[in-house]
Amino acid sequence: MRAVVLVGGFGTRLRPLTNSVPKPMLPVGHVPIIERLVANLGRYGVTEVTFALGFKPEPFVAAFPDGHCAGVALRYAVEPEPLDTAGAIRFAAEAAGIDDTFVVANGDVLTDLDVSALVDFHRAHDAEATIHLIGVPDPSAFGVVALDDAGRVERFVEKPAPGTAPSNLINAGTYVLEPSVLARIAAGQKVSIERVTFPAVAADGGLYAMATDDYWLDTGRPELYLQANLDLLAGLRRHDTCAPVHPAARVAPDAVLVQAVVGEGTQVGAGARVERSVLLPGAVVGDRAVVTDSVVMGRVGAGAEVRASVLGADGVVAPGEHVGGERRPDPDGT
Ligand code: GDD
Ligand code: MG
Repeated sequence: MRAVVLVGGFGTRLRPLTNSVPKPMLPVGHVPIIERLVANLGRYGVTEVTFALGFKPEPFVAAFPDGHCAGVALRYAVEPEPLDTAGAIRFAAEAAGIDDTFVVANGDVLTDLDVSALVDFHRAHDAEATIHLIGVPDPSAFGVVALDDAGRVERFVEKPAPGTAPSNLINAGTYVLEPSVLARIAAGQKVSIERVTFPAVAADGGLYAMATDDYWLDTGRPELYLQANLDLLAGLRRHDTCAPVHPAARVAPDAVLVQAVVGEGTQVGAGARVERSVLLPGAVVGDRAVVTDSVVMGRVGAGAEVRASVLGADGVVAPGEHVGGERRPDPDGT
C-alpha cells in the first residue's frame, strides 16, 4: 500500500518554533513528528510514502539520507506553489504514479490508528473515499461529519461555526482513497479536499467514515505539541514511549526534572527546575532557572522563571527575568 503525507503547511500556529525547523521535523520524544507518523503507517502495511511538500525538501533529505523513513521507502513531490490539500494530493499521487487504492495522512497528526483496519473498512463498504474519525468535545476547529447508520457520510463540514456542528465526530486526518478521487480534483489548481472534494464525494454517496477511540492528537498548536511529548513520556501511546533525557543532553546532577522531555544537546544548569516542558535541541536553561508548561529552543538565563511560554531558537529570557504566556521572538511582532 502506498501513501501520500501532506507536509506543505507553514506551521504558522507553531511559530516561533517553526522559524527554524519545519513543523513535521519538530521532535516529539526526540524523534521528528513525521518519523513517528510514518512509523505508524509502516506498522500497518504502508510500504512507500510520498511527502507532498510546498517547499524545499532539503531538511527532509538531510534527516532521511538513505531514502527511507522509519523503514518505509520515501519519495518527494514539491509543488510549484501551494495547491491546498486536494491539489497537493493529486500532484503527489501523479508524481508517485499512484493508480490503485492509497492512503493519505495529514503530516501533523499523531495517532495509534490501525491503518489496515481503515483499508478493510473502506473495501468492505466499496467506498470511493474513507475518513478516520475521532470524537472530541469541541469539533469547531476541525472537519465534522454527519453519518448514517451504515457509516456513510451524509454531510462533511469544515470548521463549522461554534454550535452548528452536525456531530462531535471529526475528520482525524487519515484517509483511504480510490484513484477516481484524483480525477475529481482540478489539475494544477488550489483545491481543498475538506471544502470541495469530500462534500462532492459525499453528495455522490461514496464517502464513508470509521470512528475509533485510538490515541489521536493534531500537533499544530504549541500546547498540543507540548502535550504530544508529555503523552509519549507518560506511556499513553500504544507502541512507543521515550526517555525523558536524551543521552546527549547535559543536565546538572542537582537539576530537577518533572514530566520533562530534555532534547539532544540541551543544557540544564545547577539547581534548575524543568516541569511539564520540552527542551528542544539548542535550549540552554541557566542555573536555578525554573521552566514550567513551556517549550524552549532558546536560552533561559540564570534564576529566570518561564511559565506557559514558547521560546524559539532566537528566544532569550534574561537572567532573573520572569516570563508568562509569551512567545519569543514574538511571531506577530515586527
Ligand atoms: N503539500 C501541501 N500543500 N500540504 C498542505 C497544504 C498545501 O498547500 N496546505 C496544508 N497542507 C498540509 C499541512 O501541512 C497539514 O499536514 C495538513 O495539510 C492539514 O493542514 P492543517 O493546516 O494542519 O489543517 P487543520 O489542522 O486546520 O485541519 C485539518 O486537519 C484536521 C485534523 O487535525 C483538516 O483536514 C480538518 O478537516 C481535520 O479535522
Ligand atoms: Mg493540523
